Amino acid sequence: MAGLILALDVTDREKAINIANEVADYLHAIKIGWPLVMAAGMDIIDSLSQIKPIICDFKVADIPNTTKLIVREARNHGAMGIIVHGFVGRDSIKAAVDEAGKMKVYVVAEMSHPGALDFMQKHTDDIVLMAKEVGAAGLIAPATRPERITHIRSLAGDMEILAPGVGAQGGSAKEAIEAGATHIIVGRRIYEANEPAKAAKALYDELTL
Ligand code: XMP
Repeated sequence: MAGLILALDVTDREKAINIANEVADYLHAIKIGWPLVMAAGMDIIDSLSQIKPIICDFKVADIPNTTKLIVREARNHGAMGIIVHGFVGRDSIKAAVDEAGKMKVYVVAEMSHPGALDFMQKHTDDIVLMAKEVGAAGLIAPATRPERITHIRSLAGDMEILAPGVGAQGGSAKEAIEAGATHIIVGRRIYEANEPAKAAKALYDELTL
C-alpha cells in the first residue's frame, strides 16, 4: 500500500521527536537529513527509530571508500535506509549496496527542483538502469513531474520509487502514486502546519481512500 514518508527537516531535537510522535500513526517511515542530524547529532537516528523506521537522506556523493564509511555509520545507528546520489557512478553505488546489509539503498534518479533539468535529467535513464543492476532497493523520483515518475517506473521494474516534491514544491500525492511512485515524501506541508497530525492525516487519506 502507498505510504507517507515524513521529511523531518526541523533543527531542534525535541521538536523533531514531538512531531514524529504526533504524526506517527499516518507514517510509513521518517526521512531525516543534514539539517536535523547536524543540529541534533547522529543519535537522533537511534531515538527516532523507536518511533518509525528512519531513512537517512545524506545524498551521499563520494568515492566508494568514503561512501562505505558513511553507509556504515547510518547502519550502526539503526537506520532503515539511506539515500545516495547516482551520478557518482557504479562503483560508489555498489559500495553502498555492499555495505548496507539489511538497510535499503535509495538512489536519486532525478531531483524534484527546477535545477534538476540543468544536468541531471539527461542522465536519469542511465542512473536508473545502473541502480537496478547494482541491486539498490529503490529510487528517488520527482513528484513535481509525475510523467517522469511514469517513465522511471517503466525502467525500474519493481524497485521502490519514493517521490518528494508533494505540497510545498507543488506536487500532488495522488498523482505521484498514480504515476507509479511507491511512497511519497512530504516535509513542510506537515511539519510547518499548525496541526501536523491533521496535515499528515489529510495526505494519508489521499493515499488510502
Ligand atoms: P518538502 O518540504 O519540500 O521536503 O516537502 C522534501 C524533502 O525531500 C527532499 N527532496 C529530495 N530528495 N531528491 C531527493 O533525494 C529530490 O529530488 C528531492 N527533492 C526534495 C528535501 O531535501 C526535503 O527533505
